[in-house]
Amino acid sequence: MIKIEDLDFELFIPEDKLLIRVKELAKAINADYNGKNPILLAVLNGSFMFMSDICKEISLAADVSFIKLASYSGTKSTGTITPLLGLSKSLKGRDVVIIEDIVDTGKSMAYLLDLIKRENPKSVEIASLLVKPEALKENVTIKYRGFDIPDLFVVGYGLDYCGKGRNLRHLYQKREK
Ligand code: IMP
Ligand code: MG
Repeated sequence: MIKIEDLDFELFIPEDKLLIRVKELAKAINADYNGKNPILLAVLNGSFMFMSDICKEISLAADVSFIKLASYSGTKSTGTITPLLGLSKSLKGRDVVIIEDIVDTGKSMAYLLDLIKRENPKSVEIASLLVKPEALKENVTIKYRGFDIPDLFVVGYGLDYCGKGRNLRHLYQKREK
């Protein structure tokens, strides 16, 4: 068990299981984009570890890019998305694969899809390490999904609680008191 600020967390998905699944997702992307050069667009900050690990398993001539959005406050999604760092590469005519840590309500993803589609890419797909199907409120199709998890708050492997816990190598879940 670990403590971050006022909350207790217990081990949920260890690094070895995360990495096995990340490799499987990369394999599917390698097959689907064979002969193409997609842009892997990671959503900061939460996806930095997932991006780093999945990138290394992608054998395509892929471009790597980052965008930064913020929507969370503590353990709750606020529903208000703030772009903190914009798109730096043109997406026009490109195959875009969004690399996301977690889709919770889906509001950030719906916002991002809208932003990306305005750039006229050739295609857009989503790779999300985690999905909380019970929390999902938006109609977003996640083609590459690592784990469907219950509506619990998680930290580690890039995900934070109040800015802490991102550097943990395993994924932890909030312990119910
Ligand atoms: P959404 O807009 O509600 O789908 O929230 C998406 C963003 O909130 C994710 O990209 C994460 O950065 C953050 N988030 C959602 N659930 C969790 C969680 O359980 N732990 C940490 N961050 C989360
Ligand atoms: Mg995120």
